[in-house]
Amino acid sequence: MCGIVGYFGQKNPKDVIVAGLKRLEYRGYDSAGVAILDGPLGDQHIKVVRAQGKLAELSKKLETESFSGRLGIGHTRWATHGVPSERNAHPHTVDGLSLVHNGIIENYQDIKKELASEGATFNSDTDSELVAHLLSRAVRETKDLFKAVENVLPLLRGAYAIVAMWEKQPDVLVAFKNGPPLVIGLGEKEVIVASDVQAIISYTNKVVYIDDHEIALVKGTDLKVFTTAGHLVKKETQTINWSADQVEKAGFKHFMLKEIHEQPRAVASAMAPHINLETKSVELKDLGLTTEQLKKIDRIFIVACGTSYYAAVAGKYVIEKLAHIPVETDIASEFRYRGPVIPPNTLVVTISQSGETADTLAALRLAKKLGALTLSICNVRASSIDREANGRIYMNSGPEIGVASTKAFVSTLAVLNLFGMFLGSLRGRLSAQDQSAAVENMLALPAQMESVLAYDKFFGEAAMKLKDYRGVLFMGRGVSYPIALEGALKLKELAYMHAEGYAAGEMKHGPLALIDDRMLILMVCPSDEHYEKSLSNLEEARARGGKIMSIGTGDNAALKAVSDDYLSLPDASWMVNPILAALPVQLLAYHVAEALGHDVDQPRNLAKSVTVE
Ligand code: F6R
Repeated sequence: MCGIVGYFGQKNPKDVIVAGLKRLEYRGYDSAGVAILDGPLGDQHIKVVRAQGKLAELSKKLETESFSGRLGIGHTRWATHGVPSERNAHPHTVDGLSLVHNGIIENYQDIKKELASEGATFNSDTDSELVAHLLSRAVRETKDLFKAVENVLPLLRGAYAIVAMWEKQPDVLVAFKNGPPLVIGLGEKEVIVASDVQAIISYTNKVVYIDDHEIALVKGTDLKVFTTAGHLVKKETQTINWSADQVEKAGFKHFMLKEIHEQPRAVASAMAPHINLETKSVELKDLGLTTEQLKKIDRIFIVACGTSYYAAVAGKYVIEKLAHIPVETDIASEFRYRGPVIPPNTLVVTISQSGETADTLAALRLAKKLGALTLSICNVRASSIDREANGRIYMNSGPEIGVASTKAFVSTLAVLNLFGMFLGSLRGRLSAQDQSAAVENMLALPAQMESVLAYDKFFGEAAMKLKDYRGVLFMGRGVSYPIALEGALKLKELAYMHAEGYAAGEMKHGPLALIDDRMLILMVCPSDEHYEKSLSNLEEARARGGKIMSIGTGDNAALKAVSDDYLSLPDASWMVNPILAALPVQLLAYHVAEALGHDVDQPRNLAKSVTVE
């Protein structure tokens, strides 16, 4: 996702910002830029240099540029609103006010209308430029960047981390956030603001993390942090002491935790090749199957093992709903031996992170032998399953080192959503308008995921309660059901705790007998069409003395009332909810396992690639 670096200090801001952006390259990006002060003291102006493509393109342009100022900001952009291009690259500048932004401004259309009615003209297609307009308008009145930010904040809805500078205050940076991370490094004679400590660590190991609804004011080398209500906050300065091993893990204690936090980027990478940002439509490029072949399909099987199988179950809900094609899901080891009946015009989709899982590979070979058209969804390119299938879509998650799959799972969910949308539109079941709305929802997803991950500490605290139970019943309905299955698997394999995933409607058909005060029910219950029914299930469990932890949407009073613990997710569409809900279930399992002292990256008896039956 987008990377942010801001700098004030004795060094050349250009060098520090570009080096910092380089460190953030792992987040993925499609354009980059800097805004740095230049000119004689007392008459400094912002000079902006931006380039589409890799940082090398920006560096080339910067070779001939020099800046006399000490203040600057830089950004690597992952396109959400507006195609990847130089004009959409950050920083965005309006009348001497420049900013960089990571996230999504949800009410950008209302803001744009208001600004346009005042005669504003726009130089990009981004939501971020609109914030620059709002701040520029405010600073004309307040003559102070910090006060301008205070005035503008109530106008913004969405997830954002923003760093702004104004040429009339050549030693001031103002940073504020709601969701995506921001951290400030305090050096000897310098301050570095960044989206990630990686960009800071080679200059200083003293850092302050900014929390949601706080505004950080950097004035020279002084840092003050305020609440949005204007109260000074006493922030703790943390010392980062990373070992070589931690540098490899980007400062995270385990690969798994790093990979959980990489998920917004993994999902963005999975989607990027397939979304046309101009038409807001899905274009499955390099699929290897023709439109004619896909139009003929009237049945789909999705076959996989473990976590990949649970992604398949989610895919069934999405494809059936969007494309109206019957979908069967199969555990690969069952499919290959049960003598599956494959009618003509069947597509068999095999899902495998490693692309080498023996049962999934055997299922693929059998499907081909039985005359099915096949499509693989793999993370590892040129793996056996990838090579042997007729068509392919990549998870594009980047290497997954932790044995327990995390980022490959959410990337698969994202890819299956796009596949469902693509088939829906191909078969005339999904209108262009509905497709464009669904694409917008998917584009907002990485920023929403970042805002969920920002509550990692909170999930860690909830996990401490979970570890004292005899077992956990994960439940969900509709597309939340596979998340319940996945939550239970994660807890089993990492914490070695007994857990079951159930369709919540099944509760009365057996599991209710298990309920007592030592069995936790964990209900995945976002505000969707199944919400009321899941709530009733929880009330039944409550009436029988059950202990409940629920995952819901926003500040849901009814769910809170029926639950001992409540974990909240941002408001999202039904298709996006399971991807958001996957994050707390992963983090709960991770933190329980960590607290129990287990080897989180290599759980006992498990292997990353299961190449034998
Ligand atoms: C669980 C996990 C496994 C794998 C399964 C299939 O965290 O990682 O359940 O999902 O072994 O592996 P792939 O996707 O490589 O076929």
